[in-house]
Amino acid sequence: MAKKISKAAKSKTEINAVNIGLDASVRTKVGNILISLLADEFVLYARARSFHWNVTGRMFKADHALFEDEYEMFDEVIDDIAERARALGIKVPARLSDFSKAARIKEIDGTALSAEAMILAMLDGHEGIIRMIRIDSEVVDDLDDEGTTDFLTGLMQQHEKRAWMLRSHLEG
Ligand SMILES: [Fe+2]
Repeated sequence: MAKKISKAAKSKTEINAVNIGLDASVRTKVGNILISLLADEFVLYARARSFHWNVTGRMFKADHALFEDEYEMFDEVIDDIAERARALGIKVPARLSDFSKAARIKEIDGTALSAEAMILAMLDGHEGIIRMIRIDSEVVDDLDDEGTTDFLTGLMQQHEKRAWMLRSHLEG
């Protein structure tokens, strides 16, 4: 009986092989895009944390809370991106050195910026990510990975909403 079950059971190799209708080469290419995007989002997460800690001025309470909203958003999308890569069977390198190697967005020293410059830098980060997602999603779309294309569209919309909110602070 036990023999019968083990014969019927899939081998570990079979179970480990991702079988979702996307070639391994496609999944690797999409995975690399997601890993770069994850690194960019991580740079912006750290930027938002730094601004939350270092902001000063008469609007301290509101700005401190604004940057908390920002890092919470990045915290969520970082997780979503990494888990999207895992759904494609791609492992996610997550050392700080991995992030700084893969990131396309530059780090900023937030210790000496005015609150307004911080909001501008945050806005700039979102807009940079939006422009990059547009390019990335065209590549992913050409690879016929509809799931990731859809995921990237939703992600871009979240960044567009944040960019609008930050711009509204500056226009006031
Ligand atoms: Fe805090």
